[in-house]
Amino acid sequence: MKLVFADILLKVLVVIFFGNRAQAHGKFPALFAFGDSILDTGNNNYLHTMIKSNFPPYGRDFPGGIPTGRFCNGKIPSDLIANALHIKETLPAYLNPNLKNEDLLTGVGFASAGSGNDNLTATILGVLKLSEQLRLFKEYIGKLKEIVGEERANNIISNSLCLLSAGNNDIAVSHSMTARKMHYAFPQYAAHLVGWSSDFLKDLYGLGVRRVAVLSTLPLGCLPGARTVGGLLRPCLVHVNKKAQLFNSMLSSKLDSMKNDVPDFKLTFVDVYTPLLHLVNNPEKSGFTNVLKGCCGTGTFELGVHCNQFTPHTCANASPYIFWDSGHPTQKAYELVVSNILQTSGITSV
Ligand SMILES: *[C@@H]1O[C@H](CO)[C@@H](O)[C@H](O)[C@H]1NC(C)=O
Repeated sequence: MKLVFADILLKVLVVIFFGNRAQAHGKFPALFAFGDSILDTGNNNYLHTMIKSNFPPYGRDFPGGIPTGRFCNGKIPSDLIANALHIKETLPAYLNPNLKNEDLLTGVGFASAGSGNDNLTATILGVLKLSEQLRLFKEYIGKLKEIVGEERANNIISNSLCLLSAGNNDIAVSHSMTARKMHYAFPQYAAHLVGWSSDFLKDLYGLGVRRVAVLSTLPLGCLPGARTVGGLLRPCLVHVNKKAQLFNSMLSSKLDSMKNDVPDFKLTFVDVYTPLLHLVNNPEKSGFTNVLKGCCGTGTFELGVHCNQFTPHTCANASPYIFWDSGHPTQKAYELVVSNILQTSGITSV
């Protein structure tokens, strides 16, 4: 009995301290992230998959210098956005078994590196499909209700900001390396991708979410993995960037039409493509001297797999690099991109 009482008291205290603190500082009480490695803060550590980054030199510049499963030398956009919106320092991965109640109150990440709108890559790679991320989010909402009660939980969910990054692996992996390419011309495939994104967003709406920032893809033709063939570096691949642009513009139009259909659904298209391409085309302006190669493990599109402690020629200092590995920007490049999107996308005003 005493124990039960202590437990209830603790929950009440957690609500008073953390609940109020979370709301006092910023506009959003919580942040949630869905999709791929641009937002995955370590869920793949707990899955049977090759798509992992919980070993050095990943995380070299993360607080504590520890590899966490983020595909970066440091923080990634989900952390940087959580921080910029005064929600929390870093966004914890939902599958982390050490999460505390107070971590849950201000949001967690469900994204899984290698995932996308198309189930195919996530299935091949053994990572979380969007439908599985959604199932975990439902489970999370149940836990949240237990901690803070139904009404308050509903409040947190409807006032929170969700991030979605899906499309990078669909274009760079599913449609370029599997039979999808033979079955669908790209515009037709892109239309399916956008339809699946919109289904996912409707599912989030059904669970009470009202604000989502939907990220465009990266300029995929400029990633070191796309530019390197047999050790030779090429200019950005125009045909790959064109696919990304087409998908992004179709996604942006789809979000516009969804906003018209459901006025209380605040959807924001976040253009990541343009500010990152701008860095790639004007590296010196931001102090970058190395654009073509990643700091670690370049020369293949198998994201992350070829960056580890045995990778030869890993750079000593990542700050002159736009890219960390064959498929992901460095923390510094992410910081510049996130600062740009927070200023231009209107995320904060939704
Ligand atoms: C992906 O898989 C889930 C469950 O296996 C299924 O419900 C969903 O319709 C699939 N989505 C697509 C886009 O194929």
